[in-house]
Amino acid sequence: MVDVRSAASAPKQEIRLEDYEAPAFTIESINLIFRLHDDYAEVEARSLFRMKKGAGSELRLDGGPYMDLLALEIDGSPVPDDQFVKSAEVLQLRSVPEKFELGVVTRLRPRENTRLEGLYFSGGNFCTQCEAEGFRHITYFPDRPDVLTRYHVRIEADTKSCPVLLSNGNPGQKGDLGDGRHFAEWNDPHPKPSYLFALVAGNLACQNDSYTTASGRQVDLNIYVSEQDLDKCDYAMQSLKRSMAWDEEVFGLEYDLDVYNIVAVSDFNMGAMENKGLNIFNTKYVLASPETATDADFDHVEGVIGHEYFHNWTGNRVTCRDWFQLSLKEGLTVFRDQEFSSDMTSRAVKRLDDVRVLRMLQFPEDAGPLAHPVRPEKYIEINNFYTTTVYNKGAEVIRMMHSIIGPEAFRKGMDLYFERHDGQAATCEDFAAAMEDASGADLKQFRLWYSQAGTPKVTARRSHEGRDLIITLEQSCAPSPGQGVKLPYHMPIRLGLVGPNGGEVTADLEGDGKWEDGSCIVNLRETHQSFRFKNVPEGTVPSILRGFSAPVVLDHDLSDDELAFLAVQDSDPFVRWESTQDLYSRYLVKQVSEDGEGHPPELLLQVFTGHLADKATDPALVAELLTLPGEIALGQKMESLAPERIHTARETLAKAFADASSENIIDLYQSLKAAQGYSHEQGAKANRRLRNVLLNYIALMPDGEETTQRRYAEADNMTDCMAALSLISHSNFDCRDKVLQEFYDKWRQNDLVIDKWFAVQAQSKRSDTVSKVRELTQHEAFTFKNPNRLRSLISTFSMLNQVRFHEKNGEGYRFLAEMIVRVDELNPQTAARLVAPLGRWGRVDEPRKGFMKDALMSVLKVSNLSDDVRELVEKSLA
Ligand code: PHE
Ligand code: ZN
Repeated sequence: MVDVRSAASAPKQEIRLEDYEAPAFTIESINLIFRLHDDYAEVEARSLFRMKKGAGSELRLDGGPYMDLLALEIDGSPVPDDQFVKSAEVLQLRSVPEKFELGVVTRLRPRENTRLEGLYFSGGNFCTQCEAEGFRHITYFPDRPDVLTRYHVRIEADTKSCPVLLSNGNPGQKGDLGDGRHFAEWNDPHPKPSYLFALVAGNLACQNDSYTTASGRQVDLNIYVSEQDLDKCDYAMQSLKRSMAWDEEVFGLEYDLDVYNIVAVSDFNMGAMENKGLNIFNTKYVLASPETATDADFDHVEGVIGHEYFHNWTGNRVTCRDWFQLSLKEGLTVFRDQEFSSDMTSRAVKRLDDVRVLRMLQFPEDAGPLAHPVRPEKYIEINNFYTTTVYNKGAEVIRMMHSIIGPEAFRKGMDLYFERHDGQAATCEDFAAAMEDASGADLKQFRLWYSQAGTPKVTARRSHEGRDLIITLEQSCAPSPGQGVKLPYHMPIRLGLVGPNGGEVTADLEGDGKWEDGSCIVNLRETHQSFRFKNVPEGTVPSILRGFSAPVVLDHDLSDDELAFLAVQDSDPFVRWESTQDLYSRYLVKQVSEDGEGHPPELLLQVFTGHLADKATDPALVAELLTLPGEIALGQKMESLAPERIHTARETLAKAFADASSENIIDLYQSLKAAQGYSHEQGAKANRRLRNVLLNYIALMPDGEETTQRRYAEADNMTDCMAALSLISHSNFDCRDKVLQEFYDKWRQNDLVIDKWFAVQAQSKRSDTVSKVRELTQHEAFTFKNPNRLRSLISTFSMLNQVRFHEKNGEGYRFLAEMIVRVDELNPQTAARLVAPLGRWGRVDEPRKGFMKDALMSVLKVSNLSDDVRELVEKSLA
């Protein structure tokens, strides 16, 4: 055997979509035996290969630098040393027969695995994470999503420390091995790619339930958690059952195994993982009780449980041909989980939440040096492409198809997609083709959404000819890395016409579009395109981009009065909210640029008090209507970011609203007090949301400290507790340090709550935040090994606290650079996810710009930097 050591340190080569080649073989089945021991694990893999006709006899397997190869066999005989070459990443067999059994034995050290990829140890349990390329750290294998095979797994481990032994599929035999060891076998009848493989072994408690599918299959449902968390699984279990029913009802999709297992682990790089029949979850998205989780946390649990469940069809039954197609499963599954949550909660409020996330995270990505298309064309480290663009913009792309072809054709398209591709590894193109064929629509131009990066800008202008209203839409999209010139997109723009008395106006349209439920969806395809609405009453105001029907930045010519009108009158909740936000933003942006101290105009106060008095609207939506645009959203409306001035202007307006409407605010606040204690009903959640928004204003009033402190002390649930704590954390209240300490002492045993404690301090707008955050990295509860903890402190600070991260002296940037380097030594994937905020130097002026680049350079200077971090830092500097 030749050991090519130099390959270990060579930087990874770029992988390109255009170089895709189908595998040269198929694998009929794989038999895996895991022998788990306290300080090592041995893995025996036996796979039946069949080379495709005409393919060469050479076989290349993926591998990794952290495992030892103990044996390599073909049809039971050892492969001689001169017949294979092994580098850190590849095992190459010179010549293999047409059909053979490959035997590989490897030895792993799960306890040393801080990368949390492959087989690792977390909180006393063995678990795996194989997406995207983790299976190659378990055994040598063609670790690519278009190689599907049937898995049979046997796990052997210590009976006492690992009573629970799980893998994918249906359970098989189990038994005692003597010597204090036992085994369990699992069979997965559905062929799957290696990234969907999973194994868990440990000491876990289980909450059990069952579900009967529409066609009568009894499914055993289990959620495995550590003993002390057993009382926090109810909501996840209910969410799972709701997901199963929803997918049957809405998409006609049923579950296909006898068991559905979910395991919660506390050390996890992402949110959760859809491994076939054995989802592995970050505890954050399983555990929830009113005392420890906020209403938003509950919603996230439901959304992520749904997301992973929905992957069983969109991801598992139909998987991705290659990783460039990642959005095929992720964009589609996010769309599905969004729809599910909309049906379970409030569609209007869910849409606002999703749009807010898109704008806060995805728009900056699309506008910066890390911009890439929903279907990227090249990458160095695939883990860097689990991005908000692939996920959230990917979901918007699916949503637009849904709008263009309509819900019925969309459902037909989904059916056709499964009919054609069940059991296969497919592409984004396959999906678009199914939608096209099912609907008869022409989606050729629409496909540009997959290949072009950047957020398009749409400008809407009005003109009148007689009684006709002509809306002219213009689109453009700024260049992004590697893409200088963009072609015009096909986008569905949902429009409404609101008559002078507030009613919906329906007018004949001349132009490409159709009316549907009071709105008109027009197809914008040209750079410049007009739509004529015939015979429109005078004083009609257009409501543009209802439901945020396309992920664009809209520039319109509505006056302040017209915005105020839509803010109250429009039937579309998104446009009501957006118009309110536009009105607030216009004023705030002016305040920032003119550094004005001007009192807010009467119109703004009127709109605000109008929303306060609105009893007809869902209180959760009213809460959003009463919330000022966030500092990040305001920053996006400016040429160059002025973080302090944005912060001050926003605070000043909030104070003006609080002063001007103090009585109404307090009255409403009092009236919302829950009569009968805590409930998780939608209505009760909505009231809490509104009440906590009002508390923001109350905190600014003369006895704000007292009210906030009382709210904190009396809170009987985590939602109210965090709302108050967050205000206290921002404040100079005397009680601040004491309250924070008490909270810590009370919750020190609960990791997820302590994460909140770190996050609430990382988000503080106080001027001492950077040094406090730095201090917190020395706190006894802080650890560089746990991704949730890192994110709660470091990502919260750098991604959500605009004013403090962008501190003029550059301290925030230097702190982040240091953290990236520290984390990279342990966990490159998580380190890489910290990089993005430093790449936004194009948005700031000197000296900040220079400080940000210096911070990036300082990371690049470090030796042994991971490919993950290097790729993003280099791109961020370009
Ligand atoms: N596929 C997972 C999901 O979105 C995310 C994930 C990716 C988890 C990579 C772990 C590693 O559901
Ligand atoms: Zn997913």
